[in-house]
Amino acid sequence: MHVETSAMSPEQAEAELVRLDAEIARHNRLYHDDDAPEIDDGAYDALRRRFAEIADLFPSATDGLGAAATVGARGTRGFEEVAHARPMLSLENSFTDDDVKDFVAGVRKYLSLPDDEPVRIVAEPKMDGLSLSLRYEHGVLARAVTRGDGSVGEDVTANVRGIADVPQDISAATTAAVFEVRGEVYMTKANFFALNESLAAAGKPVKSNPRNTASGSLRQRDPAVTASRKLNFMAYGWGEVSEFPSRTQKGMLEFLAAAGFKTNSLTAEFEDVSLLLENHRGISAIRATLPYDIDGVVYKVDSLDLQDRMGAISRTPRWATAHKFAAEEAFTILRDIEIQVGRTGALSPVAKLEPVNVGGVVVSNVTLHNEEYIAGIDPDGAAIREGGDLRIGDTVIVYRAGDVIPKIKDLVTAKRPTGAKPFVFPTRCPVCGSDAVREVNKSGKLDSVRRCTGGITCTAQGVEKLKHFASREAFDIEGLGEKQIEYFFADRDLPVREPADIFTLRARNAASGRPIRSREGFGEASEAKLLDAIDGRRNVALDRFIVSLGIRHVGQSTSRTLARHYVSLDAFLAAVGEVAKHPTGAAAEEMSTLPDIGEAVVTGLGSFFANPGNAAAVARLAAELSVTDAQRPSATQSPVSGLTVVFTGSLARMGRDEAKAMAESLGAKVSGSISAKTNLLVAGPGAGSKLKKAEELGIETITEDQWFERVSQA
Ligand code: IVH
Repeated sequence: MHVETSAMSPEQAEAELVRLDAEIARHNRLYHDDDAPEIDDGAYDALRRRFAEIADLFPSATDGLGAAATVGARGTRGFEEVAHARPMLSLENSFTDDDVKDFVAGVRKYLSLPDDEPVRIVAEPKMDGLSLSLRYEHGVLARAVTRGDGSVGEDVTANVRGIADVPQDISAATTAAVFEVRGEVYMTKANFFALNESLAAAGKPVKSNPRNTASGSLRQRDPAVTASRKLNFMAYGWGEVSEFPSRTQKGMLEFLAAAGFKTNSLTAEFEDVSLLLENHRGISAIRATLPYDIDGVVYKVDSLDLQDRMGAISRTPRWATAHKFAAEEAFTILRDIEIQVGRTGALSPVAKLEPVNVGGVVVSNVTLHNEEYIAGIDPDGAAIREGGDLRIGDTVIVYRAGDVIPKIKDLVTAKRPTGAKPFVFPTRCPVCGSDAVREVNKSGKLDSVRRCTGGITCTAQGVEKLKHFASREAFDIEGLGEKQIEYFFADRDLPVREPADIFTLRARNAASGRPIRSREGFGEASEAKLLDAIDGRRNVALDRFIVSLGIRHVGQSTSRTLARHYVSLDAFLAAVGEVAKHPTGAAAEEMSTLPDIGEAVVTGLGSFFANPGNAAAVARLAAELSVTDAQRPSATQSPVSGLTVVFTGSLARMGRDEAKAMAESLGAKVSGSISAKTNLLVAGPGAGSKLKKAEELGIETITEDQWFERVSQA
């Protein structure tokens, strides 16, 4: 039974807290002691959040409860958090031969390599463990940090000292001030099975797989336990390095091996995609015979200079990809199809499955994307799966591809129960009853997603938008969690229906006959705490402000890009106002030249601000806040910062996208066409009309070499 927090009696609250505490304690045990988590971090955090919300409302009911109160989030075991000097990136996945061909072609295109110039790729088995960063200072191991979220990890130095594969001292190979070695901690299959045997013999629960066991073993509170678990470490990369011993991936691996690290003996180099694919098939064939688990082959551009030129998109380098092996599969039953309404109004069907273990993870919910996906027919009329449409009661094959997200591969038509009927997708919003429609997009195609037309009048959207608004990645208002939002959204005296309402709450509360402190579950202290937390967020950075609006396709990274480009809220609002009025005008074009901003983002922003209700809500919100300007990185030092640059003709030293990324990283704007606003034209051989127009307008024109000269003066 799931009682709304706000409607709970003290007795119900106490019973629920006792139940949650026991459940959290059980998941702590599964995770910390057994390395066999049953739920993912999101589900675990939801349990803790619910506990905290109820505990906030009924503080005395937590007496004698321990688990939820004492242990921090499951992800931290009391290790010190350490920021990585260089982020620990993850890898883009490739699944098919075509994906790999596209990767190599993309590398060539990005670097604009001539057809006859080979590009050397190193292929390394992808170890299935957890990555670790080892910081050596003057050749001596100073710190070992887990990946964490890629930016901040946990200091596990004491535990790592017990891993025989990790040299304590590499000064014979390098005495560089800083040399961070990165690689994978793993447990061999043999050690894993031996551990399970001894656990079983002692009557203890066995571990589910080597990777979880390695992770749990590394993150033990007692270093002696880690040491007893026999972990291994294999090096494949680096972080901050003050002196490079080589400028190739292969050379770096050779250096790491000479310094005393294990490196993978199956590593090989290729210049031809067909050989890469052959190598992948070969490694896949011997995978089961290897002493450790691998889940694919990683391809990396060999030259470090080229790696540097390519850089990274968000969290993944452009110069590498993980070519995964075929996924793990399991059979289960489709029990129901639930329709959820997201904050953008999208009706998302979710398959409710009989829980099933797929490669070590219990899967019970899988997205079904949209109605075409359920019907098994894509927009072009082609079949999505062999078995046809999905019906409740069907036996389905679930798989997890390289990423953790489970998907439905197909269904077993022979097992369909008699009388199973095709699923009828609702044409009304299950939350507010408004029509749910499929928009026709610009190219005249029917959008595959059905959306509720209720807008802010639909509680699902209103509530979801507000939850997002107050969430960690947006305004991060403590004490205004999902339950409180639901509570105030439905409140008659102090309604919070749109973001601005949050910030007028204090004034409305002061004038209200039913102030927050008089409500059940609230008191003077919790009222003051909530209102103070809200006031504490009145100063907000522009990128957070943008993220908080919950506009389609505009997440954290995009918001940061927009904030850096437009700098002030006024400039941003002026630009999006223009885009709303003229979706293909100059403002839209300028926006689409920003890094990683494509048509979807521009359209998303345009249609959001074209809706007068939204624009007015944003204005009301802005009136309550002080939005601080963003800073343009490196804009002040660069010799091209602030300039609008156009590239034309064929470029020899860099690809088009690369040129654009480079100019933008130096604070310049890149435009596709010459106008009076253009400051600089970089023209390669074959430049035509743009060169002519630039000459007519008297715009400074330089060659590609001169461009490099100029920017190197930075
Ligand atoms: S390179 C800059 N190389 O895969 C790219 N990663 O999906 C950073 N992994 O977090 C990773 N074997 O835990 C790289 N030979 C290998 C790898 C490898 C396993 C893991 C690593 C990383 C994850 C990325």
